[in-house]
Amino acid sequence: MEKPSQDTLLPLPLLLLLSLASITADTNINTDRSSLLALKSHITPNPQNILMKNWTSEANVCTWVGVTCDSLYNRVTRLNISSMGLVGTIPPEIGNLSFLISLDISDNSFHGPIPSSIFDISPLQVLLYGEIPLSLGQCSKLEYLSLYGNNFGGHVPTQIGNISLLQFLSFGDNKFSGNIPKEIGNLTMLQTLDLGANNFSGNIPNEIGYLTNLLGLSMRVNEFSGPIPGTLYSMTSLLYFDFTLNNLTGSLSRDIRNMTSLRRLGLEENSLTGKIPKEIGDLPDFERLSMCCNNITGLVPRELGNLTNMIGIYLGNNALSGTIPIELGRLVNLWELQLKENFLITGSIPKEIGNMTSLSYLLLYNNELSGSRYLIPDINFPVSMHDTCFTAYTDN
Ligand SMILES: *[C@@H]1O[C@H](CO)[C@@H](O)[C@H](O)[C@H]1NC(C)=O
Ligand SMILES: *[C@@H]1O[C@H](CO)[C@@H](O)[C@H](O)[C@H]1NC(C)=O
Ligand SMILES: *[C@@H]1O[C@H](CO)[C@@H](O)[C@H](O)[C@H]1NC(C)=O
Ligand SMILES: *[C@@H]1O[C@H](CO)[C@@H](O)[C@H](O)[C@H]1NC(C)=O
Ligand SMILES: *[C@@H]1O[C@H](CO)[C@@H](O)[C@H](O)[C@H]1NC(C)=O
Ligand SMILES: *[C@@H]1O[C@H](CO)[C@@H](O)[C@H](O)[C@H]1NC(C)=O
Ligand SMILES: *[C@@H]1O[C@H](CO)[C@@H](O)[C@H](O)[C@H]1NC(C)=O
Ligand SMILES: *[C@@H]1O[C@H](CO)[C@@H](O)[C@H](O)[C@H]1NC(C)=O
Ligand SMILES: *[C@@H]1O[C@H](CO)[C@@H](O)[C@H](O)[C@H]1NC(C)=O
Ligand SMILES: *[C@@H]1O[C@H](CO)[C@@H](O)[C@H](O)[C@H]1NC(C)=O
Ligand SMILES: *[C@@H]1O[C@H](CO)[C@@H](O)[C@H](O)[C@H]1NC(C)=O
Repeated sequence: MEKPSQDTLLPLPLLLLLSLASITADTNINTDRSSLLALKSHITPNPQNILMKNWTSEANVCTWVGVTCDSLYNRVTRLNISSMGLVGTIPPEIGNLSFLISLDISDNSFHGPIPSSIFDISPLQVLLYGEIPLSLGQCSKLEYLSLYGNNFGGHVPTQIGNISLLQFLSFGDNKFSGNIPKEIGNLTMLQTLDLGANNFSGNIPNEIGYLTNLLGLSMRVNEFSGPIPGTLYSMTSLLYFDFTLNNLTGSLSRDIRNMTSLRRLGLEENSLTGKIPKEIGDLPDFERLSMCCNNITGLVPRELGNLTNMIGIYLGNNALSGTIPIELGRLVNLWELQLKENFLITGSIPKEIGNMTSLSYLLLYNNELSGSRYLIPDINFPVSMHDTCFTAYTDN
């Protein structure tokens, strides 16, 4: 699978200005059928593949696997061929599916350019000056777009902001690069935004904070740099965000207390400094704090002990100091407590740790803890934990 370079990507789209009338008058379900057959012909033949056997010209296109039609207009409205093990390219005929509102080709091995004709889709479109490879702006009606797990590349064009009805957008696990345009902030209906596992760089745009309906945000495994945008903290609907493995700097703000729905945050393997804000303890549903492998200083906040839903605390490989707060003993649902390799955490392992009846992993090694090298006898872990996956280190 070769990465498409700018040159092999499609030429600038021809600026057709199609009206609703011209689309509907000239196309019908047979157009949809030939579009999908064209797609099939661009998929590497594999007789084992369900799509190869199922998409036959004899059968009604609306009964084909992955295809959903609208009963009123008898046109294809949804195409979902995710996870079918398909290898191939997307032909320009895809643009003839003029009633399509949902396209899910994720988790296959499609590669090469995304044809500009894809933007002909949508009855209400107005074609615009597409900037390749993704002049998505014409799909103004699209609600769900997943290109997850393919080999698409190039930049995200500013016209992304036109697809204002999008609720789900995934470019995850591709080879996209460049900055995220600030127009992303126009997609205010978005509930899920997945840009993870690409090669995006630059700052995370402030406009992210305008996505007030967002529930999940992943930007993990990219090359984002600069601070966590301040507007993030105003996102009161967000359940989780994941910026793991980037190059973010600065610190986590106390304004995190405003993110009242937040359950999980992932900031592992960045270049963050500063303290862990104790205000995290004010978030009623918070359950997973992942900030290992940064350069965070200060104490482990006692307030974490207020968060009875906590299942994981991952704070290893930082520069934390002080003692292990006894309040953590209240975290009866905590599954893993990781404070390893801070080198500055002192004192003994509090016996209250023995109250954490769900604890399966306790990683404390490479700190300045006193006490025995292995299990501390007065810690009362459930016996089964000793036998199976329990690991405790106090290796100094
Ligand atoms: C194609 O798959 C669909 C959904 O699984 C099934 O209902 C239909 O009968 C299949 N058609 C053919 C021709 O195999
Ligand atoms: C497509 O199908 C997969 C597997 O059946 C499903 O998980 C996914 O949500 C579907 N996509 C859409 C847009 O409905
Ligand atoms: C379908 O799309 C192709 C390529 O984009 C185009 O040449 C053809 O005229 C279209 N067919 C119909 C029936 O619209
Ligand atoms: C798409 O956005 C561009 C600017 O980003 C604007 O000029 C154009 O009119 C928009 N098109 C639609 C269909 O909204
Ligand atoms: C996108 O949002 C900007 C403000 O951030 C606004 O000026 C622009 O008109 C919006 N574009 C569209 C296509 O909605
Ligand atoms: C990511 O982009 C940078 C340039 O910004 C480039 O040097 C690097 O090779 C790219 N990495 C991958 C894995 O494509
Ligand atoms: C967080 O809430 C405080 C108090 O309500 C407010 O002053 C501050 O501006 C908020 N911060 C953000 C980033 O929304
Ligand atoms: C992270 O950013 C710092 C400072 O901006 C830079 O020196 C460093 O090379 C970057 N690291 C990576 C892995 O990009
Ligand atoms: C962490 O910060 C300290 C003090 O600012 C600095 O000396 C040290 O090199 C940093 N460590 C890493 C791994 O960035
Ligand atoms: C949270 O924890 C702190 C310190 O452990 C404590 O003083 C405070 O009362 C707690 N707040 C709530 C709401 O439980
Ligand atoms: C731990 O449990 C004991 C009794 O089982 C209780 O007295 C103590 O307050 C608990 N400590 C914490 C920090 O929950």
